[in-house]
Amino acid sequence: MTELTLDDLMFKPGLMKGQRILITGGGTGLGKVMAEACAMLGAEVVIWGRRGNIVQETAKEIADAHGAKVTGMACDIRVPEAIHDAMDEVWAGGALTGLVNNAAGNFISRTEDLSPRGFDAIANIVFRGSFFVTLDAGKRWLAEGRHASVVSILTAWVWHGGPFTVPSAMSKAGLNVMTQSLAVEWGGRGVRFNAIAPGPFPTEGAWARLNPGGGVGANGEKPDPTIPLGRNGEMRELANLAVYLLDPGSAYVNGQTIAIDGGGHLRGGGGFARLSEWGDAEWEAARNAIKGANEKDRAQRTV
Ligand code: HXC
Ligand code: NAP
Repeated sequence: MTELTLDDLMFKPGLMKGQRILITGGGTGLGKVMAEACAMLGAEVVIWGRRGNIVQETAKEIADAHGAKVTGMACDIRVPEAIHDAMDEVWAGGALTGLVNNAAGNFISRTEDLSPRGFDAIANIVFRGSFFVTLDAGKRWLAEGRHASVVSILTAWVWHGGPFTVPSAMSKAGLNVMTQSLAVEWGGRGVRFNAIAPGPFPTEGAWARLNPGGGVGANGEKPDPTIPLGRNGEMRELANLAVYLLDPGSAYVNGQTIAIDGGGHLRGGGGFARLSEWGDAEWEAARNAIKGANEKDRAQRTV
């Protein structure tokens, strides 16, 4: 099911006509809604993910709902050669004008329970994978002298740390520094970099791993009590910010990470610090619930 109508967006129809946007992890959750917003405003959109059927279904859903051009491609961003081949295919249809580094992996865990493979499972997607995608597209933009906008989806953990989500927080912090560094290195050559730090926006993918056993809707979406605005984020709010940063209308904004979290990061840091109260039994139950979600998703992967 698609999420948005034009009334949800702040922008005039056709704003993104002529733009071509790649959204990694665009088959589900926040990536899907950003893909939908760009497509509704006239952009051509490409979405990547490892579950080929999901990205293709999502592409078709958005294309059918909005009469847009959306292409779903199976691509695992942990594999630089796969990125390069998929990017060749994307570029064959025309150069990208924007990239959203949205794909991610995450789960809550006590840090002392992490194995090297557990750390790599997250860092290889978020830290390495997002950099490799950025580099592959970036080299093409620089060689062709094109203008482009890169938006990375981070979290406010980049400012105050992320207890019980350390591999994700470390990886996102790396991307925050990538955003600042490349804003300077490539900004003058036409490629600008910004990032979004969302607070809680309930999605199946995140809730299965961050609220295991609960799931989206399980608690009536009761928000984290530390969020000053007293609620979770709405998808259209994130979509509007992503469109703003991707579009040349924001061309003078460069190197910024913008929180969209109801002010949560300003009050006590948010995150999972409250899980310090959990004991072995709670952690074992959480791990088993997350394992079930991982196995279900893995069975659908086509790459
Ligand atoms: C400890 C765990 C674990 C857990 C997995 N591992 N779950 N360790 N606690 N709960 C360990 C495994 O034991 C294994 O190590 C290693 O991680 C790899 O596990 P696999 O299941 O083989 O991994 P893989 O199939 O590569 O899947 C990657 C994944 C999975 C990251 C684990 O969750 C995934 O594909 N996620 C994609 C979608 C996603 O996570 N979306 C949420 C993004 S939300 P050993 O040593 O045992 O072999 C997000 C929100 C942030 O980022 C902000 C919210 C406010
Ligand atoms: P999600 O639905 O699980 O989205 C993650 C997407 O990444 C999935 O579509 C997944 O698809 C894709 N992906 C994972 N590994 C990949 C790989 N190796 N190659 C290609 N694609 C891969 O979760 P979400 O909540 O929408 O999260 C989207 C982004 O928002 C993430 O960066 C997350 O950290 C960030 N974020 C979310 C929240 C929130 O509250 N939801 C808050 C802050 C930040 P496949 O499994 O099919 O590959």
